[in-house]
Amino acid sequence: MKISVLGCGYVGLVSGACFADFGDTVLCADLDETRIAALERGDIPIFEPGLEQIVASNTQSGRLSFTTDVPRAVREADVVFIAVGTPTRRGDGHADLSYVYAVAETISKSLTGYTVIVTKSTVPVGTGDEVERIVRQGNPDADFSVVSNPEFLREGAAIEDFKRPDRIVVGTDDPRARDVMTEVYRPLFLNRSPLLFVSRRTAELTKYASNGFLAMKITFINELADLCEAVGADVQDVARGIGLDNRIGPKFLNAGPGFGGSCFPKDALALVKTAQDYDSPVRLVETTVSINDNRKRTMAQKIIAACGGDVSGRTIALLGLTFKPNTDDMREAPSIAIVQALQAGGATIRAFDPQGMQAAAALFDGVHYAEDAYDAADGADAVVIVTEWELFRALDLARIKELLRTPVMIDLRNIYRPSEMKQLGFYYSSIGRPNDAHGRST
Ligand code: UDX
Repeated sequence: MKISVLGCGYVGLVSGACFADFGDTVLCADLDETRIAALERGDIPIFEPGLEQIVASNTQSGRLSFTTDVPRAVREADVVFIAVGTPTRRGDGHADLSYVYAVAETISKSLTGYTVIVTKSTVPVGTGDEVERIVRQGNPDADFSVVSNPEFLREGAAIEDFKRPDRIVVGTDDPRARDVMTEVYRPLFLNRSPLLFVSRRTAELTKYASNGFLAMKITFINELADLCEAVGADVQDVARGIGLDNRIGPKFLNAGPGFGGSCFPKDALALVKTAQDYDSPVRLVETTVSINDNRKRTMAQKIIAACGGDVSGRTIALLGLTFKPNTDDMREAPSIAIVQALQAGGATIRAFDPQGMQAAAALFDGVHYAEDAYDAADGADAVVIVTEWELFRALDLARIKELLRTPVMIDLRNIYRPSEMKQLGFYYSSIGRPNDAHGRST
């Protein structure tokens, strides 16, 4: 099967490399010459565990190659995956589909023979219809099908999620396209990953419904965490207690500073806008979005409260800046609102993140980037765990305490236990645990 992937970003590169790893011949195309040149050198522009190796091995085997010549990529393919960006459009929260529609134009002029055009990017309901119209208009005689095949990849676990998906969703009513997509996913199908064939619009909506539900589930436990603090309960025990119900499940019940990333915020907002456009609002997701936005700001208040209500002239150490571990992605990370609020309160910020500091440097002014967690804590009045990197799970807490000016830790990911921290002499504040009169987690 000859596959072309248009767009060598996070989704396109992972998808292309994994299809090549199945034995397909894959041509990844991108208009960004610098990006293509880097990929041809084996330089991967994103941090994703395992991606460098899988790209290198399949490039060496000749199954995976790169080009800026998008028309050639279309001409040579049986299946063309559209994996270009669909960022949130400035101002109104809709998904910006200009890159999708531009590449559809290019495809229409380059088709040779029956081709399946697949929207892999997350696109609003009805986008496949528009892509089909654009291609038909550009090339009335072309023989093609437009299919929706949304991705469910988590950053930091993308290759695992691609190769062992919970399900593959394919949106088409065309039997020929169905046969081609069954062939494309045969390696996974043989692993017994369910291959769901649904209508194109159903597949498009399924992606948003999935992310909207997951964002809502996280927000549910985050609100429960606040209630736990108020009533003196423990949110991790509540999460375990409800998660053992197999209708709920244990995953995505870790209370924290709010969800971030390039998907949940963008997709939840796009779902809300689509629903409003069709006059069928999804009010639960609307509320999820507003609660989550507000939560990131209230996290800064939690830090300020733990520092006695005022951080002016104080130094605060942040451990973790990325929106989650095992990524270098800073998009919509809770750390952004936290840094802004603390600096507005007059604090000086020292920060360490294993992968995110380069991306963070473009976002923040006046932040001191430390060598490691201990360097960050050195001379600080408080240390805050913002992202639950493995590195922060077994810190030498006695050494951290020595380095801090005052032994204050605010743990936004509940990595440590209140009893242990109290024993070590920390003022320890965390998420969703009972508080004492001074706001310390007990
Ligand atoms: C998500 C979806 O999981 C994936 O299926 C989709 O294709 C893309 O969006 P991703 O954004 O990479 O993946 O990260 P994910 O692991 O889902 O975490 C998203 C956010 O939720 C992060 O900010 C994370 O910190 C937060 N989160 C996740 C929690 O706060 N608690 C949890 O229990 C899980």
